[in-house]
Amino acid sequence: MSETLSLRHLIGGEWVGTSSGIESLNPSDTTDVVARAPNDDGTAMRAAITAATEAFPAWSQASPEVRSDVLDRAGTTILARREELGRLLSREEGKTVPEGIGEVARAGRLFKFFAGEALRRTGDNVDSTRAGVEVTTYREPLGVFGLIAPWNFPIAIPAWKSAPALAFGNTVVLKPASLTPAIAAAMTEILHEAGIPKGVFNMVFGGSAAGNALVKDPRVAGISFTGSQGVGAGIAKLAIERQARLQMEMGGKNPLVVLDDAELDRAVQCALDGAFFASGQRCTASSRIIVTDGVYDRFVTALAEKVAALRVGDALDPETRIGPVSSEAQLNTVLEYIDIAAKEGARRIAGGERLKLSKPGYYVSPTLLVDTKPDMRVNCEEIFGPVASVVRVKDYDEALAVSNMGDFGLSAGIVTTSLKHALHFRRNVRAGMVMVNLPTAGVDYHVPFGGTRKSSYGPREQGTAAVEFYTQLKIAYTLA
Ligand code: UN1
Repeated sequence: MSETLSLRHLIGGEWVGTSSGIESLNPSDTTDVVARAPNDDGTAMRAAITAATEAFPAWSQASPEVRSDVLDRAGTTILARREELGRLLSREEGKTVPEGIGEVARAGRLFKFFAGEALRRTGDNVDSTRAGVEVTTYREPLGVFGLIAPWNFPIAIPAWKSAPALAFGNTVVLKPASLTPAIAAAMTEILHEAGIPKGVFNMVFGGSAAGNALVKDPRVAGISFTGSQGVGAGIAKLAIERQARLQMEMGGKNPLVVLDDAELDRAVQCALDGAFFASGQRCTASSRIIVTDGVYDRFVTALAEKVAALRVGDALDPETRIGPVSSEAQLNTVLEYIDIAAKEGARRIAGGERLKLSKPGYYVSPTLLVDTKPDMRVNCEEIFGPVASVVRVKDYDEALAVSNMGDFGLSAGIVTTSLKHALHFRRNVRAGMVMVNLPTAGVDYHVPFGGTRKSSYGPREQGTAAVEFYTQLKIAYTLA
């Protein structure tokens, strides 16, 4: 067992608050308390917004080189400390150590990417329709951004929201998820030590009281949120009412199509990785596997064998392939859906058990459901755990139709050797991201990210698209 960290808010460059109210437990061993943090009632949040408001003029007018340097230093430190931070992430969130290290590296790279983007804020010169008049467009920062982050990517998502907000001259108040405060605090400390000026980046721990204070405050120009649809709906109501800029990422029910002509090994690997790695706790997870008739039996047999062989255990154990789920609430949801699936007539051919291992943790065996129908609840509602259901279809057309069912539209995948079907799927599947012969989860850090329909709202995150959300255009007309 390791030490329990005492965490505090960062407001106006000072560490404040008392480290009690939020307790983060190691989901692999719930006797291990990873950290204690304050649980704000809204007071610290308002102070953080004041600090961010006061810091905005100087930061937004600083040379972009100043902003770029801070982000670059933070990125370098995060990358240098990836092993140690990756282990902390695994201890706190429950993904395996290689997954934890990979995520920390992603966060480091995000800071470095946006260190470059800080220098690339450009505008246009346009000839006016009036002779002698010049039209120029500028991209301006907006002010304070409120960032509400989830627990499943507890450093990558804070990084991918913070880095562009800061790069383009905004100031930030981050509210990390209460399940994963320690890794968010590590990122915050690194930004602080990289020399980010007082008040430019603030972090406040808390639940809905703190979140509401952030979303409601008229001094906050925009809110970026990743989390559940239920919480997202509440945020949207408050943010839209006061005309705040809003970006929301709210999950998926992502289809992975396997066609008769697919390479079987590749199809099995895509399904295994997409559905079960990171304990299925990715909004891009392949939770619906849609398989054509000719390959169905061979595919299901091969996948079930691999699923049953996945070793579930302590996230910090190098032998572990699948860690625990992140919390008791998450465990209960997963077990509830396994029951629902049985009642709906799905057949379970792997997993579906709560596991009692030597350490008390939230372990559940990776679960494969077959003979499922597209309209079953397990195929329509996001479970957010190591559970995947397989749907049998007769051909590609039916596979596409089933893929496009439901409310979500984040990521979609197809495994095929047919160029014709791959291209048709890319164009016609209703999803923000399409993967051909790749898992639906696992995205690059330097390209845009986002979905359609109920999965996402507002402009895309990440990559060169991030500038849309974190800046606004000013259009100047000049007669010389
Ligand atoms: C990935 O699949 O690499 O919360 C990233 C999530 C997504 C990120 C997925 N916003 O799971």
